[in-house]
Formats: sequence, C-alpha cells, structure tokens
Amino acid sequence: MEIRAIGCEPLQLKRMHIHDGHTLKVYRETGGYESLKKAMGMSQDDIINEVKASALRGRGGAGFPTGMKWSFVPRQSPKNKYIVCNADESEPGSFKDRYLLERDPHALIEGMLIAAFALGATTGYIYFRGEYNYLIDVMDAALAECREAGILGKNILGSDFSHEIYTHTGAGAYICGEETALLSSLEGYRGHPRMKPPFPAIEGVYASPTVINNVETFTSVPQIIEMGGIPWRDLGTEKSGGTKLWSVSGHVKKTGVYELPMGYADMEKFIMEDCGGMLRDDKKLKAVIPGGSSVYIMNTSQILGKNVTMDYEGLVTAGSALGTGGFIVMDETVDIVESTHNLSQFYKHESCGWCTPCREGTDWLVKIFDRITSGGGRPEDAQLLLDICDNIEGKSFCPLGDAAAWPIQSAVKQFPEDFKKWIMNKTNGSDVTANV
Ligand SMILES: Cc1cc2nc3c(=O)[nH]c(=O)nc-3n(C[C@H](O)[C@H](O)[C@H](O)COP(=O)(O)O)c2cc1C
Ligand code: SF4
Repeated sequence: MEIRAIGCEPLQLKRMHIHDGHTLKVYRETGGYESLKKAMGMSQDDIINEVKASALRGRGGAGFPTGMKWSFVPRQSPKNKYIVCNADESEPGSFKDRYLLERDPHALIEGMLIAAFALGATTGYIYFRGEYNYLIDVMDAALAECREAGILGKNILGSDFSHEIYTHTGAGAYICGEETALLSSLEGYRGHPRMKPPFPAIEGVYASPTVINNVETFTSVPQIIEMGGIPWRDLGTEKSGGTKLWSVSGHVKKTGVYELPMGYADMEKFIMEDCGGMLRDDKKLKAVIPGGSSVYIMNTSQILGKNVTMDYEGLVTAGSALGTGGFIVMDETVDIVESTHNLSQFYKHESCGWCTPCREGTDWLVKIFDRITSGGGRPEDAQLLLDICDNIEGKSFCPLGDAAAWPIQSAVKQFPEDFKKWIMNKTNGSDVTANV
C-alpha cells in the first residue's frame, strides 16, 4: 500500500509517515495551527477571497468551488451558523478521507476552525459513516487536546471567537453522504435528501446557514491560508487548483493513496509507471473508473496515447469525471457485465426509496443484469438497460439516481463485446468472476 506524493511536495500527505502525526504536539511541531492564527488576524472577506483565489473545488465529488460556496452564507443572519464536515466517504473506490481522519485529524479541525472564523459559525459537526466508527476515538482525542490547549471552545487562542465541534456517526448508508440527507440524519431524521433550493448555505442544519464540505476540502484550507490562494492554485491548474488525493485500487502493482498536482499528465503514465503497471505482467489494461463508481467507466481507447490530464476538465474531456478520485483499475480478466452488475446491486441497495425513478429503476437494472448473467439474456437487453438508465438519469430527486445510471451507460457503450458475449453465448466464456 503506497501513500505518497508524485509531482509535488506532499501537502495533504505531509504527516502520513510521521510518528504520532495525529497528536497536537507533532501537529504543532510541523507548523500546525499557524494558519488558524494567521486567519484570525485577517478579515472574514479576505479569508473567503483567498479560498476563492485558490480555485479549490470541493473534493467530495461534485467539485463545486469552495470559496463561492462560503460566500453564499448570509453572515449577517441572526441565526447560528454551522460548519459540517462530510466524513461519510461511502463512494465505492474512495478511501483517501479515512487516512486524513486517522493520521492527520488536526488538519481537519484547523480547516473547520478557519471556515468557522470566516463565516462566524458557532458550532461544527463531523459526520462519520457508520463503518468509520473506530475513527471517532481518534477525532475525539484530537478535539479534547484542542479544548485543553484553548484552540477549541470558548475564546479560542484568547480571542472573542468561540466555536465547538462535535463528532457524529451515521449508520452506514451511502445516501447519508449526499449533503441534504446527511443534514436530515444529523438532525435525527431518516436520511432522505431534501429539496434544493434552499441550499444548505441558506438553510442547512436546523434550518440555519451551514457550510458543508468534504474532509479533503477542509484539510486544504490551512495550506491555502499558509501559502496564499494564488500560489496554492498554481500547484494545479487555473480552474482546478492545488493538489488532489487519489485512492488507487484494482489491478496495479502499487495500490494506495497518491497526492498529485491537479492537471498531472498523464493518466497512462500514472497507471503504467507511478502505480507500477499492471498487477499481472501478462495482463493488459481493460478499463478504469477514475472518480469512484459514480462516473463513466473508461476503456483503453480513451486512455492509452491520449495524454489524459488528471483534473476536472481533463477527465471530462476524456469522457468521464474526477468525482472523488476513487481510481479503480481493471485488467482484461474483468468482465464488465459482472462488474457493473455488482455496482447495480450496490445502487439498488443504497437507493433510499424516496422517489420512483431511482427506487424502481435500480431494481429493474439489477433484474436485467440477473437475467443476462444467469444465461437468459435477450438481444434487446443492452438497449433495455440504456432505456431504464434514461428513465432514471435527470429524473430522480437526488444525484444518486444519476450515479446509478452513469456506470451502466458507459459499460454498454464502451464495452459492447462483453454484453454480446453474455447475450449470444449465454456465458462470458470464463469462470473468472472479478467484482469491482
Ligand atoms: C449519493 C451521494 C453520496 C455522497 N457521498 C459523499 C461522501 O461520502 N462524502 C462527501 O464528501 N461527499 C459526498 N457526496 C457529495 C455531497 O453531497 C456534497 O456535494 C459534498 O459533501 C460537498 O462538499 P465539497 O464541496 O467539499 O465536495 C455525495 C453525494 C451523493 C449524491
Ligand atoms: S434518487 Fe434515489 S436516493 Fe435519491 S431521493 Fe430518489 S430514491 Fe432516494
């Protein structure tokens, strides 16, 4: 398991290999909480402007510009304002937040405190997925150290700025990573998504102004304040600033968490050199899901010799998306019908059932895949999958519906041979079952 930066100094991964990097002592020895001090000497507008200048885009999947999101919060509102960290990390293929939470919890706390100061927020919550329960002890210990040191609670660092942060755990539902479902769950309700608008910046927790960001988004903030927005942006590209963590899994020799500058060129080099090449030397690359399971699957004609740059724009141009950076590599032994069947089962299971296109559509997708992989596939089944996806995509209440449709649409379009094999021969001709 690799944890390293390529093409840049480690920023997000700075403390990953430092003994006791999760403690306040080591965090401070390595420059921790200096950015908070610096930010507390700045005006709220200046902090938000630095984050805007950094071109930081939310690392939770949607890539929304963070500074712009912060600027939507009505700071003059008499209501309490809240900072929420989305530590739900349930996207299949994504595991980078877990390392930040486990080995660098103070970076998250510092990022949240800077956001709280910039927005005048009184209270923060860190929402963990149920399966990350074991990380709550690490975070609670870090929060306790901060309280003891006067970095958290009343009169932070002797100022009149006060802010408290609480940890909270979900029960392990993928939908609770969707920001409005997360807010419902945090308030003690069933984790159903809410109508937008109003967006959380206006009406979030307890119908009050709330900024909700991903773990990696918050841990970027101290770096931005330390370096300045523009220098941080220039580590990456004009529209995709800074560096990004990639969770690499699948059929490469060196799986792990990699930090790359945004715009890293190129994806083929990343797979074949940085990640050590294909796991089995005699097997060829077949497919990559670059951004977690909720993006289009890419085939080799979209990657090899194409100089795909690894940033938001580069991956859209190449026909997929950056998403969470959950980078799943598949070699030629993988049957794309079986792997997308597996993904469909995930989305069906995780659909919250609130709206009909997603609840019924994901069920139908699984039924069609069941038919194909049990040898009963019909010639029209590939098109039928696309038709069902068309009835889900853009017609569901929240983006989980789109997320369920995209991998299947790309599977049918980019890997028609795999469907043909199953439908014509009633088998894929192999006893290898390689689930994603
Ligand atoms: C079904 C679904 C699951 C999601 N899961 C996560 C998650 O686990 N972690 C996360 O940060 N964002 C997740 N998101 C994105 C959030 O809705 C939201 O965009 C994000 O927390 C905003 O933070 P950011 O701007 O820093 O990315 C999910 C979205 C959807 C639709
Ligand atoms: S799209 Fe799916 S997950 Fe989202 S509200 Fe509808 S049923 Fe629930």
